[in-house]
Amino acid sequence: MTSILVLNGPNINLLGTRQPEVYGKTTLSQIETTCRATAAELGVELAFRQSNHEGVMIDEIHAARGVHDGIVLNAGAYTHTSIALMDAIASVELPAIEIHLSNVHAREPFRHVSYISKVSIGIICGFGPASYPLALRAMAGHLGVTA
Ligand code: DQA
Repeated sequence: MTSILVLNGPNINLLGTRQPEVYGKTTLSQIETTCRATAAELGVELAFRQSNHEGVMIDEIHAARGVHDGIVLNAGAYTHTSIALMDAIASVELPAIEIHLSNVHAREPFRHVSYISKVSIGIICGFGPASYPLALRAMAGHLGVTA
């Protein structure tokens, strides 16, 4: 069965209480529940992870090779800084979709830069928690899953 890894980066664990005016009040656990329902509907397996540590995220990406077929990545602030995460995605040669809850391009200029975009097949941002199921559907479509 096709398997998709959803990987979340720093501070995403605080969703629900973190700057609700920017990120809303939905928790990461609620987003995971929605993702699991979407994955079941699409007929794909789902792994859902979060880490505040760049190295742990890199290890997760390395471990995804041969296990998962695609990666949906909300790298949080590492999106704008991490050449190491970009290299990790490029190294495992798995399709990746960059996602954000907020529309990073409507925010501060430092959020307009993304190292992850350079190694992603596409980007979904600005739809709040709905960015996640949208990305799962996009990845399933990219992988040829028909449901
Ligand atoms: C974010 C956007 C990033 O700029 C920010 O650092 C985050 C969250 C988002 O989902 O909107 O931590 O990735």
